[in-house]
Amino acid sequence: MLDSMPDGDDGRGDVTDSGPVAESPRSTHHEVTVRRLVHEPPQDAADCVRGIPRVNGLEGDVIVIGAGVTGLTAALALKRASRRVIVLDARPLKESESCRTTAHLSEVPDTRLSVLLKCFGLDDTRLLIEGQRLAIAHIEQLSSESGMDCGFERLPGFLYAEAGDRAQRQALEAEAEAADALGYSDIRTTEIPASFAIAGALRFDNQAQFRPGSYVAALESQIYGHGSVVVRGVRVHAIESDAARPRCRVSTSGGDVIAERVIVATDVPIGDRSAIRAKLAAYRSYAIAARVRRPLGALLWDLATPYHHARTARIGNREFLITGGGDHRVGEEIDTRQILTELDEFARTHFGPLEVTHHWSGQIIETADGLPYVGPEAADDGRVLFATGLSGNGITNGTLAGLLLADLVRGHANPWARLLAPDRSRSLASVGRNMGRNLAAAKRRLTGRIKELVTDVEHLPASAGMLIRRQGERLAIYRSATGALRALSAACPSGRGHVRWNGAEKSWDCPSCGSRFDLAGAVLNGPAVRGLMPRPFVDATPVPAHAAGPSPAPVAQAVP
Ligand SMILES: Cc1cc2nc3c(=O)[nH]c(=O)nc-3n(C[C@H](O)[C@H](O)[C@H](O)COP(=O)(O)OP(=O)(O)OC[C@H]3O[C@@H](n4cnc5c(N)ncnc54)[C@H](O)[C@@H]3O)c2cc1C
Ligand code: FES
Repeated sequence: MLDSMPDGDDGRGDVTDSGPVAESPRSTHHEVTVRRLVHEPPQDAADCVRGIPRVNGLEGDVIVIGAGVTGLTAALALKRASRRVIVLDARPLKESESCRTTAHLSEVPDTRLSVLLKCFGLDDTRLLIEGQRLAIAHIEQLSSESGMDCGFERLPGFLYAEAGDRAQRQALEAEAEAADALGYSDIRTTEIPASFAIAGALRFDNQAQFRPGSYVAALESQIYGHGSVVVRGVRVHAIESDAARPRCRVSTSGGDVIAERVIVATDVPIGDRSAIRAKLAAYRSYAIAARVRRPLGALLWDLATPYHHARTARIGNREFLITGGGDHRVGEEIDTRQILTELDEFARTHFGPLEVTHHWSGQIIETADGLPYVGPEAADDGRVLFATGLSGNGITNGTLAGLLLADLVRGHANPWARLLAPDRSRSLASVGRNMGRNLAAAKRRLTGRIKELVTDVEHLPASAGMLIRRQGERLAIYRSATGALRALSAACPSGRGHVRWNGAEKSWDCPSCGSRFDLAGAVLNGPAVRGLMPRPFVDATPVPAHAAGPSPAPVAQAVP
């Protein structure tokens, strides 16, 4: 489970113009500390369940499932086109992936340019980049026209190779050549706005950053009225689109909702959709924040595997360095807490002694060829549409996908429909192996971290979980900070496999489809729509002595 953060930000530190240096040089400890996030979206829009709690019998033109950046972008475009839109979401806004992003708004996709060129050719790679630009411009336009306070800001982005890293230097050369072919000029540089040594960099002007929580909350607030509504706290269990019936029925925890069209914008399509699921891979990605004195004024990202990225964000009157990376497959048997320690170290070695104030993580969905899938679920029935596989560019891809989905509902032509079609015929499995995230290699690197799992409940420390077998059933056991044990069936709801313990986030994660569950078994991430079953568990084991020590720090739930 993602534990809620303690209140309070200590507010130490002065603002000087001496560079992007850390504020608390004395604090260089490597412990994971968790503070309250200081840049949450406005509470009124983020936290409360709006609209009607019971949705049974509600009817509209379009049901949008998922109120993150993708669903809300589509919903707002449709509402402005006079459609009655019902947006349903199971959770508060701040728990969506859209509020866990590190919010680099970059036209440069996660999949490397050289790989895209090889696999998609010049025209389609240009089209893809054009799509990212359009998405950034759309966010800029919405933020300025409605006067929303989401801190949208244009700034340059730098793709750099670390000094002394041959592989990164070669990769940078390949990216530079691809950029030349794509028509970028004068982007090679040896300088970035940070003091660590680099082998070289590419400068992409006119990228952007913003506060995603504020932006998405502002989108949400514009949906209400004229028959449109956003209802949070309602989990969708099934979608029925029977060709014999004129309208689709969406079954939820609050009753059935009816509309002509359904958009599934749940990051990963919910339920048992094996055809699309086989093409997706779920990854966890991590981020940390630390107080600094001066903004970087740029987005930075490297060519490591998995890659690191950094930017600064102004929250209130304070500046934070936000660094991210450490991606790994969901459910991988690794000590996820170690990833946070490594991220802390990366931040300190590159940006000086830092007091890390926040840690968080989120889900990233990758596709085999590195491009999202956006379009109809079934080729012969366009009533249910979906978007997924938004990758590490999910804010820009999600915005582009939202606009495309709205066009598909209205029957409007859209230049990206062909490129992102879920049934695109190109066989591009090789792209997946070469993606910028370079996932296979990332996996190899992380296997070094696999730690020995505890084999007996007796040895299970406080605030930790493990799997055991009892009476022929595998159980997921969690020991709380006070020593109490809680048991769930470890069998995932679809019965295909068993969940695994995630120590950093205190969750039960499914390595097969990427679904995640909290300590009570409730769904945190889909595609699962139902939780893990509770099981009675009686154990006479006293809390082991080491359980009284400091418990592993959870990853904070954060909204950059
Ligand atoms: C650490 C991290 C850093 C990132 N950095 C960047 C970045 O720098 N730039 C960038 O462009 N992207 C970035 N991304 C990716 C981006 O944040 C996501 O891809 C994007 O926000 C996904 O948006 P979405 O609307 O599709 O999904 P979400 O925002 O997750 O919205 C989906 C919604 O669906 C709801 N839902 C799910 N199942 C159900 C159900 N059964 N019933 C009802 N509701 C349901 C969920 O509650 C959720 O609110 C990052 C992601 C992470 C995790
Ligand atoms: S395969 Fe069942 S929850 Fe993942």
